[in-house]
Formats: sequence, structure tokens, C-alpha cells
Amino acid sequence: MPDRDVLKREVGAQAAALVEDGMVVGLGTGSTAAFFIESLIARARQGLNIVCIPTSERSAAQAAAGGLALVGFDTHQVIDLCVDGADEITTSGLDLVKGLGGALLREKIVASAAKKLVIIADHEKLVDRLGTTCPIPVEVTKFGWELTHARLAALARAARLRVGTDGAPYVTDGGNVIVDCRFDPIADAAALDRQLRDIVGVVETGFFIGMAAMALVADRDGVRQYMPQ
Ligand code: A5P
Repeated sequence: MPDRDVLKREVGAQAAALVEDGMVVGLGTGSTAAFFIESLIARARQGLNIVCIPTSERSAAQAAAGGLALVGFDTHQVIDLCVDGADEITTSGLDLVKGLGGALLREKIVASAAKKLVIIADHEKLVDRLGTTCPIPVEVTKFGWELTHARLAALARAARLRVGTDGAPYVTDGGNVIVDCRFDPIADAAALDRQLRDIVGVVETGFFIGMAAMALVADRDGVRQYMPQ
């Protein structure tokens, strides 16, 4: 297993250890969250009794294949603990960029219902300012995406419609498309988030500001726990 995956598996296992009997658990999306789900499946097989709300069809399929009980917001509207990955994490406030995996809208809905959002990542995700290493994914409606794209492009250094490996536009679980917007290091992510959400046709942004309660970040020396300062 590549070194980075060893780190991701370790934080996934540590996050799974935070889950207690009887909890409603939010299941994140991405390669790190997949290790969390793997560890959670192992714990459930040893008797841990939980129900889960997944943030994507991908995570739902993994959880269901492993025998985890899946529920929805029709029966459960409070999540005790949500564990998810991130694309960037600020060390100071634990503000996040998410959505390079394409699940930002469901991830944000699930995170917003969680009493506690724990982020798991390897150290390469830590940044001083959001926008340093990756674009900000912005989920937009298919209808009129060209207009929404043009409005985003007027704000960003670059704005690109995300396409799949087949060259066709990437379509989210919610049936929308994603425009990846490059801004470079962002001085005020909360203000930019408001500006982006004001554009008609924008469904959600990949900014998760002030939502994370804790981050477990792995490097070669072990796992460090970060709290918002
Ligand atoms: C999914 O949409 C994303 O928000 C992921 O949580 C994020 O891309 C992290 O993925 P990795 O754990 O694969 O880096």
C-alpha cells in the first residue's frame, strides 16, 4: 500500500474508534473516508450497533456491501457524528475546501445536520489559506450552466467545467454539474463564499467554513488532533 494510503487508513481507524453504540453516523466521501467506512464495517461486525447516512452513492454502496444499516433524513434528522475527508484544511480555523470528489452538496447537507463534524486527512491537506493548492468546486444547475460559468469566470482567476474521463461533463449525485474555480490563496473565504452563493444557478460551494469541530491529520510521526483556534 502506498505511504499516503497507510496514513489515510490510520486516521480512518482512529475516527472509527470515536463512534459509539447507538449513534447516527454521517459517512463522508473520498479515499480517506473509504478507510473510515472500512474500519466502521469491521467494528459493526464485532457488534457495534449504529445507523448511517452516506454522503454519496459511492459511500452508500461501500457501507451497504459491508452490512452497515443505512437510514435517511425521513427518519433521522440529527447526526451524532459525521466523519469526512477534505481537500484543504486551514490549521487555524479548520475551514475547509471539499468537493474534489464531487460530493460537496450531500456532504454539506449531512455535515450541517451533525452535532460533530470530524475531518480526517493526511498532512498534505493542511494550508494557511484556502485556495492555495486546489480549485474551489462550485456545484451549479445544468440548466443555464454556461451563464453561471461565465459569472463565476468573471470572479475567478480560472473557472473550468469539470469533465469525466470520457470527456463528458461530470454529473453529481444531485444531477448538477461542477465548475472548478481557481482563486489562489484566499484572504476572506467566508466573504467569497457569500459572493459565489449569490450567483443564480449556484447550488452550493465547496467552502465549509466554521463547520469542523476537529481534524485528525496523519503524518509519518503519527496522528495529530487539531481543534479550531
Ligand atoms: C468529496 O467530494 C470530497 O469532499 C472529499 O472529501 C475530498 O475530496 C477528500 O478526498 P480524499 O480523501 O480522497 O483526498
